[in-house]
Amino acid sequence: MPNNDDAATPAQTTGVAGGKTLWHGRFEEGPDEALMAFTESLSFDKRLATDDIAGSRGHATMLERVGIINADELAAILAGLDQVEAELADDTFVFVPSDEDIHTAVERRLTEIAGAPGAKLHSGRSRNDQVATDLRLWVRREGAALAASLVQLHGTLVDRAAEVGPAYLPGYTHLQRAQPVPLAHHLLAHSWAIERDVDRLGDALARADVSPLGAGALAGSSLPLDPEFSAQTLGFAATFNNSLDAVSDRDFVAEMLFVCALGMVHLSRLGEELILWSSDEFGFITLDDRFSTGSSMLPQKKNPDIAELSRGKAGRLIGNLTGILATLKGLPLAYNRDLQEDKEPLFDSVDQLRRAALAMNGMLATIQFRIDVMAAAVDDSFAGAVDIAEALVAQGVPFRDAHAIVGRVVRQALEAHVSLAEAVETDAELGPDFTDLLRPGAGVARRITAGGAGTDVVAAQLTKAQAASSQLQSRWL
Ligand code: ARG
Repeated sequence: MPNNDDAATPAQTTGVAGGKTLWHGRFEEGPDEALMAFTESLSFDKRLATDDIAGSRGHATMLERVGIINADELAAILAGLDQVEAELADDTFVFVPSDEDIHTAVERRLTEIAGAPGAKLHSGRSRNDQVATDLRLWVRREGAALAASLVQLHGTLVDRAAEVGPAYLPGYTHLQRAQPVPLAHHLLAHSWAIERDVDRLGDALARADVSPLGAGALAGSSLPLDPEFSAQTLGFAATFNNSLDAVSDRDFVAEMLFVCALGMVHLSRLGEELILWSSDEFGFITLDDRFSTGSSMLPQKKNPDIAELSRGKAGRLIGNLTGILATLKGLPLAYNRDLQEDKEPLFDSVDQLRRAALAMNGMLATIQFRIDVMAAAVDDSFAGAVDIAEALVAQGVPFRDAHAIVGRVVRQALEAHVSLAEAVETDAELGPDFTDLLRPGAGVARRITAGGAGTDVVAAQLTKAQAASSQLQSRWL
């Protein structure tokens, strides 16, 4: 009877020393070192160890239920897996050179510990459905942690918006001062983008929540497996419909990479503003020492590195997304080794976005807003011009005419080197009745459109954002 003993299997006498591959039977010679060095994935799929063990527990439990292994064999496998898990956790697990991936390493060690029952574990299973299962379990676990980090950042934006009260600053279009907006409104704008990121992540996680286990290498099995039961045991919401699709589908990886890329793009845009605002030219914020860095040469420097790296890493995360799409685009069904290239970008994007969210959270929580500088930047500008035009509209003047009148006064003010308020006051068509509209803060206070940048409507928006924050926190924290 074939088993795993040396005596019963053809020896891989040459090649990489220290154990056999899972596929040694077919080969007279073991793999060359160059092949192993190039094709191994253990160096990065070690991170799937706990998921691989969980997947094996689920598979073994199913095998016992359908009678492929007996209760004693299941007990031996589960005890062996517990030991493998413990060895991995306390770093006493010894990898051998033939461990080409984490699946090989876990099964090899399990079989050393449990003997024949261990060698039964892979019945009806392939590494193709195994790795897809592991990766979906990883996404479920790490995706939730990523969501939690984004939810914290969202909460900080909302808290800071509440705290800054009526402070206002210039709103920009084309990076030119356009209209005054409450600082709370500006902070909340970023909070809604992050709220959508978390929502999108939740959707991606829901679509990833499908078990591929039982698809085998590509075609299922002649053994009476119960994929539905495996799925339930592992806590998946559903099981696959098509075995070819189950082992080839990496939509969930591509979706996660998109979610991460867009999330980092949002942090990049927020970061870009913090970089500008912390410059002497803007001077709108002061960064906390703990969340800024210094220069090795220039003693006076205080740099916004967290914001810059969020901006920089956005490029890398976009690369991870386009990389996986390029890998997938030419692949025929079903499993191809190319798919091993899914893991590094996935791990990288999820790690980087999570770290960025946590660092940005700290940075935002500790920023000092210089609300006097912000106000001065807009009070001294022409940003109240449209308020005068709208006051004329309220008196019945067609907007196009009103725009032309105020445009003329702006031009005259610029030519005469006077403020808009002075030019308005002395203008024959406008006059002192209109200068009140240019008082500091008047524009913000007068704005009434729902969702707009007016004092009262922003208060209503803040209430909504706070409700969104509590909802996100109760789901993810
Ligand atoms: N390390 C492989 C991966 O990450 C595991 C699956 C290997 N399957 C195979 N047929 N060689 O994709």
